[in-house]
Amino acid sequence: MQSNSDPRIIQPVELRVENVAKSFGSFVALQNVNLTCKVGRVTALVGPNGAGKTTLFHVIGGNLAPDSGKVFLNGADITGLPPYKIARRHVGRLFQDVRVFPALSVAENIEVAFLHRSDYSLATTLAWWRAEAREKDRRERAMKWLEFVGLADKADEPAGELSYGQQKLLALARIVALRPALLLLDEPTAALSPAMTKKMVELIKQLVAEQKLTIALIEHNMGVVRDLADYIYFLHEGSVHTHGTQKEVLENPAVRELYMGLSGGMAI
Ligand SMILES: Nc1ncnc2c1ncn2[C@@H]1O[C@H](COP(=O)(O)OP(=O)(O)OP(=O)(O)O)[C@@H](O)[C@H]1O
Ligand SMILES: [Mg+2]
Repeated sequence: MQSNSDPRIIQPVELRVENVAKSFGSFVALQNVNLTCKVGRVTALVGPNGAGKTTLFHVIGGNLAPDSGKVFLNGADITGLPPYKIARRHVGRLFQDVRVFPALSVAENIEVAFLHRSDYSLATTLAWWRAEAREKDRRERAMKWLEFVGLADKADEPAGELSYGQQKLLALARIVALRPALLLLDEPTAALSPAMTKKMVELIKQLVAEQKLTIALIEHNMGVVRDLADYIYFLHEGSVHTHGTQKEVLENPAVRELYMGLSGGMAI
């Protein structure tokens, strides 16, 4: 029986952030932040170092509670829920620093994600137990996602022996293997070679096109932003300074001056 009650069919998710503020002591990291990330779109968050981009992801992902303001997924208030509960709502996050288990094999890095998943209620899990049992085993499911990122031939190598770029691809594979509807990508191409950057961009395009994911993308590489972003928010000193299409934001003289002035002459 296939229906919308099948927990493996993931419903698309729209993210809305409303009036979020967060201070660390007297330092205001975020104030009055409003944004929407639409289904099947890549929404880029850009801005100088320290603008508050990662802090905003911490708030969305439940790692930090905002001082005020709300976070909604499809209109449901998730503000202040712990990270594991937010993850259960099909939110996946690629952290700014790569997180793989170096001593486990490449395939095991994905298999552990399946073991830890707790997306479903007990009743749902039991109801789907037989279907799950008929499905390919964990290894085969892991291989599917390793093939997706082009690491299938490394499946049995220790993840710690992969290059930095390959570890980032593995981290992406592990997240998408859990079938997120909303992906929070914090600088997915930072420190990657041009070839790896191109690969990451193609994978993100594929995820949006084939799986209708909603993607929030923090990026400093404006080539990547130009390749991927449907909509852009420019954050500056904890606030949304400008938002709009690529043209509206990247060609905005104030944005160009602030970003170039504050990020060491970065060409945008
Ligand atoms: N736990 C914390 N305690 C105190 N200050 C913090 C904390 N977390 C972040 N900050 C400060 O908040 C500001 C925003 O940091 P954040 O990491 O969100 O910036 P960012 O826009 O992601 O920058 P980058 O592009 O360099 O990653 C920075 O000045 C940072 O030092
Ligand atoms: Mg950051």
